[in-house]
Amino acid sequence: MTEQQRPPRSMNPQEQARLEAIKRSWQQRRQISDRIGHIKAKVGVYSGKGGVGKTTVAVNLAVALAQQGLAVGLLDVDIDCPNAHKVIEAQEAPAYAGGIFTPAQAWGVKVMSMGYLQQNEDEAIVMRGPMIHNVINQFLESTNWGDLDYLIVDLPPGTSDAPLTVMQTLQMDGFVIVTTPQRLAKLDAKRSINMIRKMNVPVLGVVENMSGDVFGRGAGEELAQEAGVEFLGHLELRQEYRKEDRPTVLVSKKVMDEYRAVIAGILRQMEALAKAPASGAP
Ligand SMILES: Nc1ncnc2c1ncn2[C@@H]1O[C@H](COP(=O)(O)OP(=O)(O)OP(=O)(O)O)[C@@H](O)[C@H]1O
Ligand SMILES: [Mg+2]
Repeated sequence: MTEQQRPPRSMNPQEQARLEAIKRSWQQRRQISDRIGHIKAKVGVYSGKGGVGKTTVAVNLAVALAQQGLAVGLLDVDIDCPNAHKVIEAQEAPAYAGGIFTPAQAWGVKVMSMGYLQQNEDEAIVMRGPMIHNVINQFLESTNWGDLDYLIVDLPPGTSDAPLTVMQTLQMDGFVIVTTPQRLAKLDAKRSINMIRKMNVPVLGVVENMSGDVFGRGAGEELAQEAGVEFLGHLELRQEYRKEDRPTVLVSKKVMDEYRAVIAGILRQMEALAKAPASGAP
C-alpha cells in the first residue's frame, strides 16, 4: 500500500483534547471581539504602585465622561481587591441571564467588576497566573456592553498577570498612568510605562494625583518629561474625596474641572494617535 492509499488514522485522545482546546480558545477570542466590537475607545488606568488612586481616577473619569453625554462603561479587573463598583456606588448587581451579564448602572455609567463574582466581599481571592487569565477572559466573553463611546478599565497595581491579560485581550487604545508626587510612586509608574510600551500599547499620558501641600507636586511632570509622554494634569489631594455617597466629580466643581482638563488631554492624544498612521501613508 502506498502512502497516498493508506486510510487516514483517527486522532488519539490527547490530540483530540488539544484540538478541542484550540477550538475553544479561538471561539472565545471571537466572542470577546464581538462583545467589545461596539466600544469606540478602551482606556486603561494604571500604575505599578498600589494606593495611588487608580480606582478613584477611573471612577471619576468615567463619571465625568458620562456627564458630557457620552456612553461610558467602567470595568474593574482587579482580581484580588475589586472595589470600583463600591467606589462608584452601584446599587444593583449586573443582571445575569443565559450566560450573559448586563452591566450594573451608576451615575450614567455601565459598571462591571470582578467583585460581582465574589460570594462574600470579605473573602480573599487567591489565583495563579493561568486562572487569572481564564477568569478575565470568561468575564470579557460574557459581558454585553452594547454601544459605548468609552470603556474605562481599572487595573490592579503591579506588572503581573491581570494587566498583561487585559493588554493582550482587550486591544486597548491607550493607558493613563497615575502617580503621586512621591519619588517611589514615580519609579513604579515608570515601570508601568515600560511594560505598556513592551506590549505596544500607547501611553496617553500621566496624571499626578494627591498633589498639594502634604505630598508636594512635580513628580508627574518629571515622569512625563522623562518618558516622553503628555502630562495630563494635577488632581489635588482634597477632603472632598471623603464623601463616599457619590463620585467626587459630582461633589466638587473644582474636581470636575481637574477631570475635564485630563479628558481634554486624553482626547488630544487619541486624535494625534488616530492621525499618526495616516501621516506615514503614501
Ligand atoms: N486626590 C485625592 N485626594 C484625597 N484622597 C484621595 C485622592 N485620590 C485618592 N484618594 C483616596 O486614596 C485612597 C486610595 O485610592 P484608590 O483606592 O483609588 O487607589 P488605588 O490605586 O486604586 O489602590 P489599589 O492599588 O489598592 O487598587 C482612597 O481612600 C481614595 O479615596
Ligand atoms: Mg484600585
